[in-house]
Amino acid sequence: MIFVLTGAGISRESGLDTFRDKDGLWSKVNIEDVATPRAFKKDPVRVLEFYDFRRKELLSGDIKPNPAHQALARLESQISNYRAEKGLKKPGLFLVTQNVDDLHERGGSKQVCHTHGSLLWAKCQACDHKFKWLKNLSLEEVCPKCQAQGQLRPDVVWFEEMPYHLEEIETNLKNCHLFVSIGTSGLVYPAASYLRVAKKLKVPTLEINIAPTGSANLYDRGFYGPASEAVPQWVDEVISQLNLWVFN
Ligand code: APR
Repeated sequence: MIFVLTGAGISRESGLDTFRDKDGLWSKVNIEDVATPRAFKKDPVRVLEFYDFRRKELLSGDIKPNPAHQALARLESQISNYRAEKGLKKPGLFLVTQNVDDLHERGGSKQVCHTHGSLLWAKCQACDHKFKWLKNLSLEEVCPKCQAQGQLRPDVVWFEEMPYHLEEIETNLKNCHLFVSIGTSGLVYPAASYLRVAKKLKVPTLEINIAPTGSANLYDRGFYGPASEAVPQWVDEVISQLNLWVFN
């Protein structure tokens, strides 16, 4: 099974800012003002407006999946067809993304693990109900489940909060035969620890990025270039050697 971790770099050529590049989101706005529980307590309107802006941008029609998202979807379907022919039940690819956009899904991926939540979902702080939400989110909104008002927030994992699906991620990481990171600076934990877990398990590791990251020397292999070119090239290579990655 191939374990793929993606970050903001895979969506950069779709028109979404990354976080830590020189023109990234965190160069325009302070994390402490918009992406922590304390920020939401102190100035919820400021935080809601920050995510309203990002949600509206994502839904504007100008932001579309790029060939990198589409290539990962192609890999998913090629691997599942190949394993079905061999009568192998378990999936051969596990995709976990730190991104809160829906470009993997719109690019055709069926299995996407959103460990940092999703911009297009809201969560009620009173009853923890999570639901799809595509409009602006204001304090006037009422929870569709418990009717609490002023308790809705974006279902996005903020700093100091526990990311989602950690157990599922750990199980797949421990059972993978290849670890691939795509478009992530590898600076935010726990996602940043997955490379070391893979290395400890003697799993081959590959970094795909526009340029070598600070952890480049820890990877067995690097594949550098814009994701929309590098990811399809890598996927073509894997598809041509699918027999190497079919494990029961
Ligand atoms: N193709 C491939 N990689 C790219 C491209 C591109 N066109 N453009 C930028 N990159 C790479 C950068 O070199 C960098 O390594 O994408 C990475 C983006 O890094 P970050 O901005 O730190 O984004 P990410 O790693 O996803 O951040 C992780 O931090 O702020 C939190 O919750 C937020 O999920 C985010 C997490």
